[in-house]
Amino acid sequence: MKLPAHVKLVDVGPRDGLQNEKQPVPAAIKIELVHRLQDAGLKNIEVTSFVSPKWVPQMADNTEVMAGIRRQPDVCYSVLTPNLQGFEASLDSQPDEIVVFGSASEAFSQRNINCSIAESIERFRPVVEAARARGIHVRGAMSCTVGCPYEGEIAPERVEMLARLMKGIGVQHVGVADTIGVGTPLRVQRALEATLRHFDIDDISGHFHDTYGQALANTLASLEMGVWQFDTSVAGLGGCPYAKGATGNVASEDVVYLLHGLGIATGIDLDKLIDAGQFISDFLGRKSGSRAGTALFNKRASS
Ligand code: HMG
Ligand code: MG
Repeated sequence: MKLPAHVKLVDVGPRDGLQNEKQPVPAAIKIELVHRLQDAGLKNIEVTSFVSPKWVPQMADNTEVMAGIRRQPDVCYSVLTPNLQGFEASLDSQPDEIVVFGSASEAFSQRNINCSIAESIERFRPVVEAARARGIHVRGAMSCTVGCPYEGEIAPERVEMLARLMKGIGVQHVGVADTIGVGTPLRVQRALEATLRHFDIDDISGHFHDTYGQALANTLASLEMGVWQFDTSVAGLGGCPYAKGATGNVASEDVVYLLHGLGIATGIDLDKLIDAGQFISDFLGRKSGSRAGTALFNKRASS
């Protein structure tokens, strides 16, 4: 088993983590969270999304949040843009990377972005073209690559098709998402293999929600295939408004603990990351969703 020597984590907490929060989270708190993540050594942060505020009210402060960040030149700040309207709205914020998001499941595509998979690709096409013309990196998120809340199991062929369509319009990197966290290692590996038919190993990442407690196992199964990029969420925040019952992404703290235990470098200071997780959990008034974060925090408090 040859594991990667270095792993890149994209903390999606400010976006995926907070998009589903019912209570208002002020822009100042989101900005502080981004600052704490970058202070902890995160070099990739998914900050917000430029989607309809009627669909996802929590992300309505996208421009304010982006404007409030003290940007570091070596940090990549990403935002979600589902269509040209969102892309154009994001431009004043100067994102380093934009994310178009499609689905391997027709039903989820309809519920999440109100169009078919084929229509979504046609919406993404001009976004990808405009972004790349400006030198903005383009990532594609592929939802429901193992299971869908409406269609159930998703076959790897569906993932292969979506990856091919994404590649065809010039998407540079794709994230293989287990949106509802139902995947187990072999099924996740099948989805990754399907994606690898169109994207190089250096251009794919894993995005695993932890609903069934499988996300760390799925991360390790991905590492064993050579995947070295993952989306994770501080304090395990998150969920998607159109994937009811799904919990947050795998906690960043848990993945960092796993990786450091395996001798894999991340450049992340776990103590500072735990503090960032405590900060947002305290604000939200609940316990952190990170097992390692909670254990290490309690150990620190008792020593
Ligand atoms: P639509 O209703 O089909 O869009 O929504 P439309 O073009 O027909 O326009 C209707 C209205 O929306 C108009 O406003 C537009 O101006 C407005 P009105 O005239 O009615 O006042 N509109 C917009 N407003 C702001 N920003 C925009 C925008 N576009 C249109 N970009 C749309 C289509 C995609 C916009 C809508 O379905 C939407 O916003 N969906 C939100 C989806 C979302 O954010 N989901 C969560 C993120 S994805 C996720 O979490 C999964 C991921 O983590 C990976 C995984 O885990 O699977 C990435
Ligand atoms: Mg997600």
